[in-house]
Formats: sequence, C-alpha cells, structure tokens
Amino acid sequence: MVSYKDLGFVNTKEMFKKAMAGKYSVPAYNFNNMEQIQAIITACVETQSPVILQVSSGARKYANQTLLQYMGQGAVEMMKVLAAEKGLKEIPISLHLDHGDTFELCKSCIDSGFSSVMIDGSHHSYDENVALTKQVVEYAHKFDVTVEGELGVLAGIEDDVVAEKSTYTHPSEVEDFVSKTGVDSLAISIGTSHGANKFKPEQCTKNEDGIFIPPPLRFDILEEIEKRLPGFPIVLHGSSSVPRDAVEMINANGGALKDAVGIPEQQLREASKSAVCKINIDSDGRLWMTAAIRKHFNDKPSDFDPRQYLGPARQALIDMYSKKNKDVLGSAGQA
Ligand code: G3H
Ligand code: 13P
Ligand code: ZN
Repeated sequence: MVSYKDLGFVNTKEMFKKAMAGKYSVPAYNFNNMEQIQAIITACVETQSPVILQVSSGARKYANQTLLQYMGQGAVEMMKVLAAEKGLKEIPISLHLDHGDTFELCKSCIDSGFSSVMIDGSHHSYDENVALTKQVVEYAHKFDVTVEGELGVLAGIEDDVVAEKSTYTHPSEVEDFVSKTGVDSLAISIGTSHGANKFKPEQCTKNEDGIFIPPPLRFDILEEIEKRLPGFPIVLHGSSSVPRDAVEMINANGGALKDAVGIPEQQLREASKSAVCKINIDSDGRLWMTAAIRKHFNDKPSDFDPRQYLGPARQALIDMYSKKNKDVLGSAGQA
C-alpha cells in the first residue's frame, strides 16, 4: 500500500472547494505517454493552474499502470523543478483513475498511490450503480482518496463501453445517489459525449461559413441538479471542443476526419462558472498531436528521429493546454 500523500499528490477535495468558490473548473487531462505529461505539466506550471492527471483503462492497457504511476510521480518532481526555475508557485496535482469500471481496478489504483478514482457505474442499473459506487467510496475514504461517480450515460466511447445514445442525468436521482453512496463529486450527462464526433450533422445547424453548430448543452438540467445539491462538485466528461484549426490541419496533411464537432468553448466557459468543478479533455490533445505530426511529416518527409516530430507535437499541446486554462476553464492563476 502506497499513500498518494507520500508521492506528492493531493486529492480533489480542496481543489474543488476552491474551484467552486472561485467559479472556475480544474482541468482533467488524460495522458498515455511522456510528451503528453510533459506538456500538461509545463502548461499548468506556466499558467499556475491546479491539474488532474487522468489515467484511463485504455491508457493502462497501452502503457502499463505501474509506468503511468511512476510518470505521475515524475510529473510532481518535474513540476517542482520547473516552478523553482521559473520562480513560480508549485501547483497541486491529483492522479486520477478515469472511468474505473470495477471495484478491483479502483482498489488497485488506490493501493498504488492514486489520489482520486472514478467509478463509472453509469451503464448498470441505478441500484447496481449505487451499490458499486458505495463499495468503492467505503474503501477509498479509508485512505482519504476522493471518488467521482456518474449518473446518466454519455454517447460515444468510454473505454471499452460504447454507448450509441446518451441518456441525460435525471435530476430527481442525484440527491439519493449522493447520499446513499457518499461520493465526493458527480459526473453528469447534459449533452457532452466522448470523442471527436460528438454530434451527427443532422443534429446541428450550419452557420454562414458552413460550420456545424451543435445543439446547446442542457444548462437547465445542470441548474436543476445544482438546486438539489447546493455546493456539490459536478464533473463534465466529453468536453473537448474539437478545434477547427486542428481538424483542418489534419485533413490538409493527408488525414480524413469527417464531420468532427465538439462542445463550443464559450459553453464550457459558462459551465465552469457553475458547480462544474472538473472538466475532462482528452480528444483535443489527440487532435493537436496528430495535426502537428502529420504536418511535420508532410513538410519534412525525410525526418525519422521521433524527437523531430514529437517535439512540435508537444509544443502544440503546451499551447493548447495553456489556452484552455486561461480562456476556457478559468483555472489559470488559481494554483
Ligand atoms: O473517456 C475517454 C477518455 O478519452 C479515455 O479514452 O480509453 O481511449 O484512453 P481511452
Ligand atoms: P473528450 O473525448 O471530449 O476529450 O472527453 C474526455 C473524457 O471525458 C475523459 O474521461
Ligand atoms: Zn470521460
């Protein structure tokens, strides 16, 4: 058993309390490799933002849980060195399991030093979701690890679970769920979804430039949930904005991304001023990384050293995360 406290991580309790009071959201960025974690830490130190480093089941399978865990620890050390070099404050970092689907997986992450876990029982029946979430909370809280639960189903791919259609969170269930399970935060479904194709073209309208405008998030559901759970931290998954610049750069350099539509940043800015304390972003990083690499190979087809193309990809990520913290989540300057 390794305590996250000995590894330099924090749980999400204090982070969310400050985010709620300051009307911003803490960024939750997924990572699978070194360049992503370097970019996240660099951007968050430079913008002085707290950050949640997310490890999905897919990331564990791809990169190995133990290695990712050590990369998380390395990130804390890198953060300290960078902050000292730049004369900036150290920033709070949480290491979080994204979309944990079993008690055993959550336990394994808690035992190895994660400071926060998500138990995603949203694909089970309500009663099964309650029972599973409660079991994880009871174990996690013994070690002061915070737990995120989920009510409502997001369309798209959540690790190995693919949901064709989303089911909005029923506000009538949230008080019962939170009081029965004891969760520390709740992921809800109000129209976001995972991946780069969040809406079908027929769900969108087109503006004069031919750009798809997606239907707005269901802020009415969010407001109803806030009324029922005053001051309780809410989480938004599936919150990539699928920037047009990145999609165009991918397609101009041999890619074939069709009908990619995300959540407009303005709506996420609005959400971050509410009880939404954590916003999950993965796909935008994937898009910018791919865009930078594709462009690099198009411009310099004879390059073959991974540092030649992963370097610009990492810089594209630093720029993106910095912009998110400053302009979208409002977390810059809140470390
Ligand atoms: O929730 C989905 C995240 O983007 C993680 O995706 O399972 O492909 O790593 P992944
Ligand atoms: P995106 O696919 O919109 O980046 O969502 C990521 C996410 O919710 C991770 O849990
Ligand atoms: Zn998610």
